[in-house]
Order: sequence, then C-alpha cells, then structure tokens
Amino acid sequence: MRVAIFGTGYVGLVTGTCLADVGHQVVCVDIDQAKVDGLNRGIIPIYEPGLEPMVKANHAASRLAFTTDAATAIGHGQVVFIAVGTPPDEDGSADLQYVLAVARTIGRYISVPTVVVNKSTVPVGTADKVRAAIAEELAARGADIAFDVVSNPEFLKEGDAVADCMRPDRIIIGATSAESVAVMRRLYAPFNRNHDRVVEMDVRSAELTKYAANAMLATKISFMNEIANIAERVGADVEQVRQGIGSDPRIGWHFIYPGAGYGGSCFPKDVQALARTAQQAGLEPKLLNAVEAVNESQKGHLFALIQRHYDKGEDEGVRGRTFAVWGLAFKPNTDDMREASSRRLLAQLWEAGATVRAYDPEAMHESQRIFGERDDLVFCDSADDALQGADALVVVTEWKQFRSPDFQMLRERLKDAVVFDGRNLYEPAEVEAAGLAYYGIGRGR
Ligand code: UGA
Repeated sequence: MRVAIFGTGYVGLVTGTCLADVGHQVVCVDIDQAKVDGLNRGIIPIYEPGLEPMVKANHAASRLAFTTDAATAIGHGQVVFIAVGTPPDEDGSADLQYVLAVARTIGRYISVPTVVVNKSTVPVGTADKVRAAIAEELAARGADIAFDVVSNPEFLKEGDAVADCMRPDRIIIGATSAESVAVMRRLYAPFNRNHDRVVEMDVRSAELTKYAANAMLATKISFMNEIANIAERVGADVEQVRQGIGSDPRIGWHFIYPGAGYGGSCFPKDVQALARTAQQAGLEPKLLNAVEAVNESQKGHLFALIQRHYDKGEDEGVRGRTFAVWGLAFKPNTDDMREASSRRLLAQLWEAGATVRAYDPEAMHESQRIFGERDDLVFCDSADDALQGADALVVVTEWKQFRSPDFQMLRERLKDAVVFDGRNLYEPAEVEAAGLAYYGIGRGR
C-alpha cells in the first residue's frame, strides 16, 4: 500500500520504517529540511537500537523516502498518518497546533479518497477537530473528496521501539466506517499473524485507550515509589516486597520497580494531559493528580538521601563535594533526556554547591546541548572516568554496564565511600561488605 507519514520524530520514523520493511511504499514528511536531508543520507536523528540499518535498507530499496514536500506526499498516500508532536501547553493540556496544521495541509492537497490516521497521542475529541479542519480546507477549495479520520494510537517503548512496532501486542483501530477498518487491517496484516491483535473500537475510546494505558503504568510506578517511601520509614525492604507481590498475576512483575521517578516524553505529559481532559469534562481526577504529585516528589528523593547522609557528617554537607553521576537519560537504551530524573538531581546538587562528573553511554551529546558549559559539570568519557576524584557515586539510570561494578574498586576510588543507588541495582549487603555506605530507594538504608 502507499503510505504518507507526517512527522519524522520517534513515532513517525519508527512506524514509517517498519511499514516500509513489510513491503509498503512509505513517504515520510517533515518540515525540517536539515533532518530530511540527513535521513536521505542515512543519518538518524535519534538513538534507537536496530533503527539505522532498517532505515538504510528500506531507503536503498526505494520503499522509504523522506521529503519536505507535503503535496507530493499526500498525492502518494492512500493512507496518511499524522505523527507530529503534541507538546504540553502551559496548563498541561496537549498542544494541538502541529496536528491541526497537518490536518489543514491534508485538506489542501488530497485529490482522491483518503484514510487519515491519527497516531500522535491526542486528547479525546481530536479526531473530530482533525475532521473539521480537513473539511474546512476542502470547502475552501470547493472540493468534494471523501475522507475518514481514524485513531490508531501507538504503544512503542523507546529503546524497544522497532521490536514493539514489528511485534505489537495490540493494534488499536478507532474508526466508525467499515471501509476504513478494512484499509487499516490490510495495512497491518503483516504484523497481525497467528492471532488477531486488532482491537476495533469507536474513535473516542481509541483516543482514551492510549492515555489510560500510560496513566495505568505511571500509576503502578508512583504506587511502588510510595510503598518504597513507606518501607524506608518502617525499616522494610521494598525489593523484598516487590518480589512478594509481583508473582500475583493480577499485579504482575512489570512496572513495579521503585526508583528516581518516571520521566520521558510520555508519562509525565500524558498523565497531565489526561488530568486536564478530566477537569475540562468537569471531573477532578484525584488519582491522576496523586500519581503526578508522587512522581514530582520522587524526583527529589535521591537528593534528599544525599542530604541526609551528609547532614550526619561532621563537615559542611554537600557544598564543595564532587559526585560521580552514572546515567543521565530518562531510562536505558535511549539518549532521551526529556523529563529525566537526572535533570532534577543535577539542578539540586548545583544549587547546594556540589560539582558533578557525569557519564551516560548515549546521552552525553544531548546533555551537552541541554546543560552547556559550566564549571560545576564535567562530562566524562566513561563510568570509570566519572569516578576520578569523586566523593560519592550516584546511579540515576539503570544501564546494563552499571549493574555489576567492582565494589572494592569503588571503595578505593570514592573519597567518602558512599553509593546512592537511584534504581536499586545493587544488593545493599554486598555493597556494605566492601566497606561502602549504601543508600537505595526504600531499602531501609
Ligand atoms: C512509555 C510506555 O511504556 C509505552 O507503552 C508508550 O507507547 C510510550 O510511553 C508512549 O506513550 O509513547 P517510554 O516513555 O519509552 O514508554 O518509557 P518506559 O519504558 O515506559 O519508562 C518510562 C519511565 O518510567 C522511565 O523513566 C522509567 O525509568 C520509569 N519506570 C519504568 C520506573 O521508574 N519503574 C518501572 O517499574 C518502570
């Protein structure tokens, strides 16, 4: 099938590449000429395992093209995806200006019956707005061309995006017309083998499904962070509690890891946007508000542990100390720093007069862009380099390479011999046996 995709961000680029990989003819459109030029030369603007070779192979096979020319792309597509960003407005609701601008462009250029697919995460009711924007442009040109707007939210995880796209656990199709459902089923048929993963529903339910899924996962994390904080106060170990509850299939093992708070481009934004949607509909979302509040305070938790440790000391606390920070990205296998817990931690350390020696396997470039040059920040070449002259180690992101350090070596290298483990990577007893002080999340120390 012929497909056009607006937006070569995370969602658009991965979706377009996977659709091309199963044999569809895909044209990706972006307004950013430099990005489009780069993609045409095989330069991928994001770090995502497995994506680069796939983009190159499909581009070379002429199944995947990148352009800034919206008119040609719309002319190409029987199916036109909207996969542009929906950044939060000042009040937390999703800003639809980019989505609606694409809708107007579609209305301006379609010439044959087209299925317009909303893949961006958009509030309930957006499909109606997209439909109205397209209709308005069609009316302005005096054109009468059939089109339909379908909601088809994506559930990719950064770091696993290609695998999630190639092997989706569900394909949500929110549509009212049987023809549109048939088109979407045909498009996704290569991903829908063995058993039917397509869940058909009405458009508004599909839009809400996306938010409900992310809000549920965020709720699990905030819940566990709250349990961790209770555990810390009552002398229990949340890791034992986690193992004690995860085996109940009604609870499950996933997303019950306490830590330094959730970040990324989705959970913080989507929880807030859903809360705004509820408020606009006249309902105060008590649980969603709490999920967000818990996460906000959790992002400050590592610093609170650091302060607690140094306040116990004889000397003047955190001021003047140097902290090795392992991990800056909001989670492993990505260079994404959006809403990353590290950003709060670094700001708090600097505010308190400390110096940071930071290392992340992928996010160094992105961090340099965000933090710039400053005297109290040293960008390091390796995890080992970050330890150079450091008083203490803080682990913020659970990259595999941070999982089993030599604790004896840490004991020798860290002047204050203390480890703050923001992701509960280590066994406290093992760390302490090496002569280090250990602080984790909800581990009673
Ligand atoms: C999330 C969802 O998991 C995807 O299903 C969804 O498609 C995507 O948002 C989206 O809406 O686009 P993502 O933001 O890539 O994916 O990252 P996650 O792996 O979900 O992690 C989010 C945050 O939660 C990270 O900061 C992670 O460290 C934290 N987390 C996760 C925890 O603190 N504890 C856990 O047990 C799990």
